[in-house]
Amino acid sequence: MVPPPNAWAAVVLMAMLLAVVSSHGVGATSVFQVRRKFPRLGSKGGGDITAHLTHDSNRRGRLLAAADVPLGGLGLPTDTGLYYTEIEIGTPPKQYHVQVDTGSDILWVNCISCNKCPRKSDLGIDLRLYDPKGSSSGSTVSCDQKFCAATYGGKLPGCAKNIPCEYSVMYGDGSSTTGYFVSDSLQYNQVSGDGQTRHANASVIFGCGAQQGGDLGSTNQALDGIIGFGQSNTSMLSQLAAAGEVKKIFSHCLDTIKGGGIFAIGDVVQPKVKSTPLVPDMPHYNVNLESINVGGTTLQLPSHMFETGEKKGTIIDSGTTLTYLPELVYKDVLAAVFAKHPDTTFHSVQDFLCIQYFQSVDDGFPKITFHFEDDLGLNVYPHDYFFQNGDNLYCFGFQNGGLQSKDGKDMVLLGDLVLSNKVVVYDLENQVVGWTDYNCSSSIKIKDDKTGATYTVDAHDISSGWRSKWQKSLIQLLVTIVCSYSIY
Ligand SMILES: *[C@@H]1O[C@H](CO)[C@@H](O)[C@H](O)[C@H]1NC(C)=O
Ligand SMILES: *[C@@H]1O[C@H](CO)[C@@H](O)[C@H](O)[C@H]1NC(C)=O
Ligand SMILES: *[C@@H]1O[C@H](CO)[C@@H](O)[C@H](O)[C@H]1NC(C)=O
Repeated sequence: MVPPPNAWAAVVLMAMLLAVVSSHGVGATSVFQVRRKFPRLGSKGGGDITAHLTHDSNRRGRLLAAADVPLGGLGLPTDTGLYYTEIEIGTPPKQYHVQVDTGSDILWVNCISCNKCPRKSDLGIDLRLYDPKGSSSGSTVSCDQKFCAATYGGKLPGCAKNIPCEYSVMYGDGSSTTGYFVSDSLQYNQVSGDGQTRHANASVIFGCGAQQGGDLGSTNQALDGIIGFGQSNTSMLSQLAAAGEVKKIFSHCLDTIKGGGIFAIGDVVQPKVKSTPLVPDMPHYNVNLESINVGGTTLQLPSHMFETGEKKGTIIDSGTTLTYLPELVYKDVLAAVFAKHPDTTFHSVQDFLCIQYFQSVDDGFPKITFHFEDDLGLNVYPHDYFFQNGDNLYCFGFQNGGLQSKDGKDMVLLGDLVLSNKVVVYDLENQVVGWTDYNCSSSIKIKDDKTGATYTVDAHDISSGWRSKWQKSLIQLLVTIVCSYSIY
């Protein structure tokens, strides 16, 4: 039995409601520098395809479990994001690397008391455990504090002074994080001029992870925690917004060509971005897909493919790498993409369909456009939907959703391959999301709401250094099996 979206939201809020304690000198706009957790697809050598699939299947497990969380349990849909950023917490401030994730709602970091937290990471970063006692601004949120009572809808039975307010999150794939709430000062980069930032800080409540289960406790690509940019009141963004310091608007521009990109909080004024409404009361960023056009021809798909609902519709998710289409849609898209290449021989690499191609894929294959409500198109070019895997071998970055998961068969999931090289703006104030094609190595302009000033935010590629270390752990060679495959 699947709880209706509202009941689901209530469960999450019951479990996780956070509050802003105080806030000092927070700017209206801020930037997060992002790095990709995995090397970009499309690079020569192909990267680790298995890692992408594993990442996505974990992700999908968690994502799709969102609607399945039983009402009696405490659950929160989250996942591992592909991009991560550095934040600083405490006084004196210490640095933590956290996954940037648009699919979850809470900030948490591994804590000193943790008995099962990753201690090493293949990403070439040093992991750190947060210690509230090591920070003069850190404090434990106790169960008799207003915050905890609000979280659990009243004072907890047996609650006494100095008993910490605990949290426990179970994820759909069996991983979990358990701990207690703490309050501390969070430092981040406030935009203070063109291409300039200065440190700002705000007090936020976040999870102090005491025990991680499943993947979160052990993964080789471990980070210190997750920063969720989901819609709920529990997110850091919502806490800052509730304090009246920022608008609930953020954007990302993920650069698959050069790496890195831009992740900013604030109103984007340049480039201009057209938008489409978010489907209300959904745990993720759901939008209404209306049609799909391949090379100038609109695919004739049954209308039920475009219904929305708990288990239908289209999710925008920058934490998923690939794009997953229901089987019917996948087959039609594939047929249309290869319409001019009927003699193509497909090579199967893991779960991917790959082709040998000796020219530019952009010249030989059509553009795909997903059309959304309010006349917003998402252009996906051949260099976006194909990723190169070795010399002249190109793999199709769309996956047949029906093959992946029964539950997900009606769901379109647009991942970061198709969201890359675009400015994507999540305007939660107006409940719209929008995007436009963009050079993510350049800069965008965002407006400081307090002063009305407009500032340039430049792209960052802070990945040099870690990339070379990380690449040593890649599987460079993939076995390819030639198979005959008919798309008609
Ligand atoms: C946070 O801001 C306050 C007020 O501006 C300042 O006194 C404090 O030192 C700052 N804390 C850190 C860790 O930067
Ligand atoms: C979330 O926060 C907003 C603004 O503070 C508030 O109006 C709203 O009621 C909160 N939502 C829930 C479900 O508590
Ligand atoms: C993207 O912007 C960067 C920085 O301005 C520039 O060096 C590069 O040539 C641009 N790329 C394209 C394809 O225009």
